Amino acid sequence: MPPKPTSDWVSNKTTIEACERSCADGTSVGETIESSRTMEYHVPVMLAESIEGLNLRPDGTYVDATFGGGGHSRAIMERLGDGGRLYAFDQDEDALPNAIDDARFTLLNENFKYLKSFLRLHGVRQIDGLLADLGVSSHQIDEAERGFSTRMDGPLDLRMDRREGTTAADLVNTADVDELERIMKLYGELPNAKQIAQSIVKRRAESAGILTTNDLKEAVEKHLPRGRENKTLAMIFQALRIEVNGELEALRQMLTQAVEVLNPGGRLCVMSYHSLEDRIVKNFFKSGNFEGKIEKDFFGNPQVELKLVSRKPITASEEELMENNRSRSAKLRVAEKM
Ligand SMILES: C[S@@+](CC[C@H](N)C(=O)[O-])C[C@H]1O[C@@H](n2cnc3c(N)ncnc32)[C@H](O)[C@@H]1O
Repeated sequence: MPPKPTSDWVSNKTTIEACERSCADGTSVGETIESSRTMEYHVPVMLAESIEGLNLRPDGTYVDATFGGGGHSRAIMERLGDGGRLYAFDQDEDALPNAIDDARFTLLNENFKYLKSFLRLHGVRQIDGLLADLGVSSHQIDEAERGFSTRMDGPLDLRMDRREGTTAADLVNTADVDELERIMKLYGELPNAKQIAQSIVKRRAESAGILTTNDLKEAVEKHLPRGRENKTLAMIFQALRIEVNGELEALRQMLTQAVEVLNPGGRLCVMSYHSLEDRIVKNFFKSGNFEGKIEKDFFGNPQVELKLVSRKPITASEEELMENNRSRSAKLRVAEKM
């Protein structure tokens, strides 16, 4: 699908043109254009570590399940030869203008939970590696109108794919108190989930509804412990985001399909940003199921398809932590198909 020009794209092009004129340092113009836009959209986390984790073969077929600004994809493309292929997924159409202009690259504006179907649609049955850098991009957080930011006021949307689904505003205005409590407890791991749910229901009954991020903040204000206001608010937003986007179920579906299409020796690299995601990845890599229970055959041999490349999750270096705050909570797990 060709990238759609947006006003952002146009304004970015202006900076790029200025840069093009001053590119006398031998850097290729293409590289400068692409990296400039990419870094503005999202600074890729643990770039070197995740590329190393993939153990790329120049003629291999790879998937970047979470394209975003395309930082990881570009690094993969640089290492692929003429026979290599990269298929990238992103359910957010804002990512489309970041598409890489290269015949070996395909960007699919789809949810990665449909990994197998969309690969098959493109004639791909087996892959040599998959990278997933979970969660949201800096671009999504920085756009107030998307509703991801706890700092800026905007419509309480929180959908990554705005073509479908229920917004967070629809959810908080229609779900009953038990459902809201379940979401806060399960996905926000909030000890006062019940009280938060009750305050949301009370607030919507007393007003025209909870429509903006500020409306939600006001509704839950009294449940934010002093000194932990931002952290608690972030957990409330996280809980709604996970529910609205069906994030954990999409991750389970993607992992199950990824291992099916992966060639022996192929790698899965998954970067997660909170314990709920990390637990799913950890259990699946260890046992092939989401309970983390290793099944054994009659002779006691473990029935597993993946082997861990590193037993412990890889975390960002001191240097990266200082440069990119977002890398703080990142955990990269790498497994290889046997
Ligand atoms: C952390 S960002 C990825 C950043 C990217 N690695 C880079 O270097 O720019 C996550 C991206 O994955 C997308 N995403 C998250 N869940 C998805 C899903 N289930 N299917 C497709 N895309 C998804 C988001 O829209 C977002 O753009």
